[in-house]
Amino acid sequence: MSQRFQDAVVVVTGGSRGIGLAIVQRFVDEGAQVVFSARNQARGQQVAQELRQQGARVDFIGADVAQRDQAEALIAQVIERFGRVDVLVNNAGAHEKAPFTDESEDLWQRMFRINVLGTVFPSQAAVRHMRARGQGSIVHVASKAGVVGEPGHAAYSAAKGAVIALTRAMAVELAPDGIRVNAVCPGPVVTDMLLEAVPTEEQRRQLAAQAPLGRLGQPLDIAGAVLFLASDDSAWCTGQALSVDGGLSILL
Ligand SMILES: NC(=O)c1ccc[n+]([C@@H]2O[C@H](COP(=O)([O-])OP(=O)(O)OC[C@H]3O[C@@H](n4cnc5c(N)ncnc54)[C@H](OP(=O)(O)O)[C@@H]3O)[C@@H](O)[C@H]2O)c1
Repeated sequence: MSQRFQDAVVVVTGGSRGIGLAIVQRFVDEGAQVVFSARNQARGQQVAQELRQQGARVDFIGADVAQRDQAEALIAQVIERFGRVDVLVNNAGAHEKAPFTDESEDLWQRMFRINVLGTVFPSQAAVRHMRARGQGSIVHVASKAGVVGEPGHAAYSAAKGAVIALTRAMAVELAPDGIRVNAVCPGPVVTDMLLEAVPTEEQRRQLAAQAPLGRLGQPLDIAGAVLFLASDDSAWCTGQALSVDGGLSILL
């Protein structure tokens, strides 16, 4: 296993399960000191403890990153403990589906708060420190739903589309400070979120069959792309939204 992140301080939001946990594991494998957040403290502490028992350098800090004060406190604690943030992965997100005309104002606000503001708040806090050091890499986890039209979750799609636009805007504004900002756009990945949205095995089999590569994604499929974008392997790459979706987004 290469050690691209030896001694790097990496923050992953929503790292207690699913895609976020796979991202945490990959950074740990490549030598990073990782701090991850989530709202469920008991689960987060348990996951961190299990990883530490396997030798990982990993800490959990409970935070709802959709709340500005909690996102700022998360980054402040990382700075206090480790002195810097080299990489921030904004992975925390939530999905709700409903026909367009049934999507309430509350649902729209929930989707934008966690998926957009939950990306903005940790980024603002981290950028203040990265800027002072003249370096940093930020990776947002957007979605295929922000790239192509999909029925049944307009608010989620619009929020993830906003994350892709945010990626470009941040990339241009922060490039002079040595900070790169990129995004990954996952297709359907087998996690709690997908199992809730696509509950039957038959539905998931049909979804998998639509993908040119013929299967659903696994969390590690996304983690590999996140580590590429976070690392110097993508040193001349900023403002990009990399689709990792078994080829689904290239169809028509
Ligand atoms: N799975 C897919 O098919 C798919 C496809 C495209 C994009 N994505 C995106 O990939 C990311 C991860 O998805 P996933 O499938 O791994 O989801 P998941 O299984 O539901 O896990 C979500 C993670 O985020 C945390 N989280 C949720 N809200 C949070 C908040 N307000 N503050 C801090 N942490 C929060 C959760 O922990 P707590 O509940 O304890 O807070 C959990 O650790 C999301 O941004 C999602 O939109 C997923």
